[in-house]
Amino acid sequence: MIKPFYRMRRLRKNPQIRNMVRETLLSPNDFILPFFVVEGDGIDKPISSMPGHSQLSIDNLVKAAREAYEAGIQSIILFGIPGSKDAIGSDSMDKDGIICRSLRALKEAVPELYLITDVCLCEYTDHGHCGPLQGHDVDNDATLALLQKQVIVQAESGADMVAPSGMMDGMVGAIREALDESGFEDIPIMSYAAKFASGFYGPFRDAAESAPQFGDRNTYQMDPANGNEALREAALDVEEGADIIMVKPAMPYLDIIRRVKEDFAMPTAAYQVSGEFAMIKAAAANDWIDHDRVMMESLLSIKRAGADLILTYFAREAAAILNAK
Ligand code: PBG
Repeated sequence: MIKPFYRMRRLRKNPQIRNMVRETLLSPNDFILPFFVVEGDGIDKPISSMPGHSQLSIDNLVKAAREAYEAGIQSIILFGIPGSKDAIGSDSMDKDGIICRSLRALKEAVPELYLITDVCLCEYTDHGHCGPLQGHDVDNDATLALLQKQVIVQAESGADMVAPSGMMDGMVGAIREALDESGFEDIPIMSYAAKFASGFYGPFRDAAESAPQFGDRNTYQMDPANGNEALREAALDVEEGADIIMVKPAMPYLDIIRRVKEDFAMPTAAYQVSGEFAMIKAAAANDWIDHDRVMMESLLSIKRAGADLILTYFAREAAAILNAK
């Protein structure tokens, strides 16, 4: 009989020892839950490609956010769908726009809930690009001035943290400067530093009604083929004053999460995006995979890769499982 020299299975023998040697643990504190808010009253319009998620009017957003907070979610990120769109995304810079009113309502109703805003223009422009156009491309520097206006009204309305996602060069520096000049030195910036031009954003663009009306985002979002470039993006954002570095999407880019974590030792976030969520939901709905098991495994893999924070549409369901233990 051949005997192994060492037996790895000794530490897998029963749940107790497996619990003792487990290297990565998930906590509800790791999760940030995204919400989509629309104009109107009493609106709760399910997003078919994102089961369990809806476009909510502010009254229902407040209810859902309170429930999430009571269920152990401490932080949410908001995406706004304005009543009217224009070439520069004016609603996002208006203190009475959809996001600013949402922030004030949430701060009043659930003051302990930590509110993060997505800082971008694509949901607010009629052409669906992430900044004003010059010809058929986004004008980088003109966008920066608009993002500065956007973060100030968001901060004044109660945002606890801002998360620029437009992949404009210099956006973190511009936003830091604007916040500091207006007395918001204490508001952190979570930068979507390495955001890839990804097919996995499909369901989100339906949910946020933000698909580009022509062309694509390849002149500002990153080529999925590039890893070193992601590190240069992260380095610039760290230099410009980012407090948290985000990689997005998450599962197809676990290598990037790991490299960013190792190179910068910064608090690192990963966005498990709409398409990642939708794939798991769809396969589970067909009974091809076990929903809860795959959900938890996917989140664990993202954390194991190096993410401290995970933006995920599974936040509520995963927190419920963790809190039940
Ligand atoms: C841009 C933004 C996008 C997502 C978050 N912020 C979409 C895009 O670049 O088109 C995608 C998130 C997801 O797919 O879940 N404001």
